[in-house]
Amino acid sequence: MSRKKITVVGAGNVGGTLAQRLAERGYADVVLIDIVEGLPQGKALDILESLPVLGIDVQVTGTNSYEETANSDLVVITSGIARRPGMSRDDLITTNQGIVASVTEQVVRYSPNTIIICVTNPLDAMCHVALETSGFPKQRVIGQSGVLDTARFRTFLAQELQVSVQDVHAYVLGGHGDTMVPLVDTTNIAGVPVRKLIPEDRLQQIVQRARDGGAEIVNLLKTGSAFYAPSAATAQMVDAILLDKHQILPTCVYLQGEYGINDLYVGVPVKLGASGVEQIIELDLSAAEREALHKSASAVRELVEVLHRARE
Ligand code: LAC
Repeated sequence: MSRKKITVVGAGNVGGTLAQRLAERGYADVVLIDIVEGLPQGKALDILESLPVLGIDVQVTGTNSYEETANSDLVVITSGIARRPGMSRDDLITTNQGIVASVTEQVVRYSPNTIIICVTNPLDAMCHVALETSGFPKQRVIGQSGVLDTARFRTFLAQELQVSVQDVHAYVLGGHGDTMVPLVDTTNIAGVPVRKLIPEDRLQQIVQRARDGGAEIVNLLKTGSAFYAPSAATAQMVDAILLDKHQILPTCVYLQGEYGINDLYVGVPVKLGASGVEQIIELDLSAAEREALHKSASAVRELVEVLHRARE
């Protein structure tokens, strides 16, 4: 039986760290591809040479050629420029539109049946680029943002309450930007509503810190953006799909009527399994949270219009 094959496009910090995390799972071969000569080869070889220590027998290949990505079961696109201090995710749009479109074309040529997870920012808009360029059904083109945003929210709640991160159940929905929507109403600590445990003003500070989580890291690093948490979040989505877990994770998905949103990529809870998107879960949102989600969707729609204008 042959192993699963995962391609990671982009050998920067997110791509390199993701390749390491996936190789260490031990269930799939990993191809790391980048246009920079030597970079993916060097990182892949370094990861490969760690595997005897860990007792893991998968292949890790670095390349500049898409031929080596052929017949991937799953492809993660991380390529593009990253944020620097003072930049919003949206400032990256035109540069990364070109990069994601050309990457997607190549990916699809060699892996016509693959599933694409987009990670490049601005995330929701880049999912549109990958969907339109690939011509794939929407079930096979998704984006990572909600697992990361939710992980940040859970981190701060667990710290505040001094409880295990595993006891913090929360969702952050919406676009991966300033208008993202941490769902306070449904957030609970082992079943206890979070509003019973944290006063509202403090809770709103935590919500805001989660929303600004990406910028907080950019401001600290100064020369790039986060990669440990983004790669951990992406690896969880890869597991859900390739291990056919039917796991429900906040995922950037193409909505066609769900939540009253049409023809737009927005983060909502999605059941992920071997075929990609298995089901979009429609939570019963309060009026305020539904309005916040629609506001976030409008921000995404503005970016999608920028994409379409750039193409004309
Ligand atoms: C973040 C960037 C990578 O949220 O979008 O850290």
